[in-house]
Amino acid sequence: MDRRKFFKKAGFATGAAFVLPRFSIASEKSPNSKINVACVGVGGIGAMTFSGMGKEANIVAVCDTDVSYSAKNRRKYAPDAPFFEDYRAMLDKMGKDIDAVTVSTPDHSHFKIAMDAMQCGKHVAVQKPLAHNVWQVRELAKAAKYYNVKTQMMNQGHATGSIRMIKEWFDSGVCGNISEVHVMCGGPNWKSIYFKKPEKFPVEKEEVPPYLNWDLWLNQAAQADYNSIYTPLTWRGFWDYGTGMLGDWFCHTADAPVWCLDLKDPVSVELIESDCSFDPKVFIPNSSIVKWVFPANEKHGELAMYWYDGVKVPKNLPKDWEEDKKLKKDIFMMMVGDKHTIATAERPNFSPRILGKEFFAEFKKNMPAKTIPRVRKDNLYFEWFDAIKGDIKECGSNFNYASQLTEVALLGSLAQRIGGKIEWDAKTMSSPNRPEAAQYIKETPRKGWETPDIPA
Ligand SMILES: NC(=O)c1ccc[n+]([C@@H]2O[C@H](COP(=O)([O-])OP(=O)(O)OC[C@H]3O[C@@H](n4cnc5c(N)ncnc54)[C@H](O)[C@@H]3O)[C@@H](O)[C@H]2O)c1
Repeated sequence: MDRRKFFKKAGFATGAAFVLPRFSIASEKSPNSKINVACVGVGGIGAMTFSGMGKEANIVAVCDTDVSYSAKNRRKYAPDAPFFEDYRAMLDKMGKDIDAVTVSTPDHSHFKIAMDAMQCGKHVAVQKPLAHNVWQVRELAKAAKYYNVKTQMMNQGHATGSIRMIKEWFDSGVCGNISEVHVMCGGPNWKSIYFKKPEKFPVEKEEVPPYLNWDLWLNQAAQADYNSIYTPLTWRGFWDYGTGMLGDWFCHTADAPVWCLDLKDPVSVELIESDCSFDPKVFIPNSSIVKWVFPANEKHGELAMYWYDGVKVPKNLPKDWEEDKKLKKDIFMMMVGDKHTIATAERPNFSPRILGKEFFAEFKKNMPAKTIPRVRKDNLYFEWFDAIKGDIKECGSNFNYASQLTEVALLGSLAQRIGGKIEWDAKTMSSPNRPEAAQYIKETPRKGWETPDIPA
């Protein structure tokens, strides 16, 4: 399909039609000038986006569907930036002033906002997990290439020297063949601010508060009545909006094994056990164990990866885990090799180590060479800006990699949701033995929020 026809089909607001990425027009800006960033979703972790970009960004616009929840961060970080409730109006009115867009909204709205921004020629940085279903993550990866924009997923551990060091350890061959990976994550913690169980299903209709634009918050999700249990934060437990503990932690804790071992396209994903208070198709489990099987590739033989959340833990936890006070006890990752095992705590930059204290002490005296370039100040936003300015080719967690990492996480969420063993055919993006999975692999967008497929 030619581009003009494609944009017409996309039905995007008139003034925001596709333009070249603004910062790619060399004559327009000097290499030292700041990137003009618009931030969408600024009430919660959006604060990290402002502080992470620091003085290297001009915040030219902010957008949030909750005038009240976002007020504190807007006042603190962008008091003078024009404010919008609808990101489409923001792109329409201010498109020519915007180089790049950050997206820190709940998981279900990442896709459409990022896609529309890329379609307007904007570079994008999107919170983890990249999107809400497998079709979406693949489309975002295709779109980044198609629109030729610089992309970054905000799994901050990926920009650290630590994950690069782990990959250099792995590449040195110290582990031998890795046949098992274990990823543990303690939550959901029902007493935390992030998760709340409803008293009953269906959740009752409440009046939408005047400070919230519920219709825009729903974005492309199905029409639903408002209840205060959804937003802010506690949308995480509801599959319609969140992606559960896998969405919350996998892109951090499993980043190193997915990158080192090039884990993708499992042949199956299976819910080994779970405990649920409600219908698992609607609400996340209290605890679960999930298993993926990956066929052999250049980095490993056939490999099984296990995910544990809630109170579940692997059977044979190593001595280091029990004895080492630096290792957080409920969030832990192990890549188990036939020679040695690499482990970290919650993110790849938390207590990276090779298990076995004496061996690790010796290993550290003669570490493998630093072969992988480091990121300026270990900062994912600086890496993104450097890519936009052309100082580096790509970000580490660009949408190509981010879609690979998120797809594995989302297949785990799918298993938590429909249970049992799901055979997976990556080529056709479908499950041969579980056709009912299709509705979750590509969710139907609400009328008016559709996006045409990116041409192959
Ligand atoms: N990288 C990390 O360490 C990290 C940490 C926490 C959260 N996250 C991710 O960040 C995202 C946001 O999580 P949170 O905890 O900040 O959630 P939150 O509910 O606290 O905040 C989301 C914000 O986005 C706004 N919003 C929602 N829909 C919007 C829309 N369509 N347009 C504009 N604004 C909209 C909300 O009003 C709110 O201000 C999630 O994807 C989450 O997984 C990442």
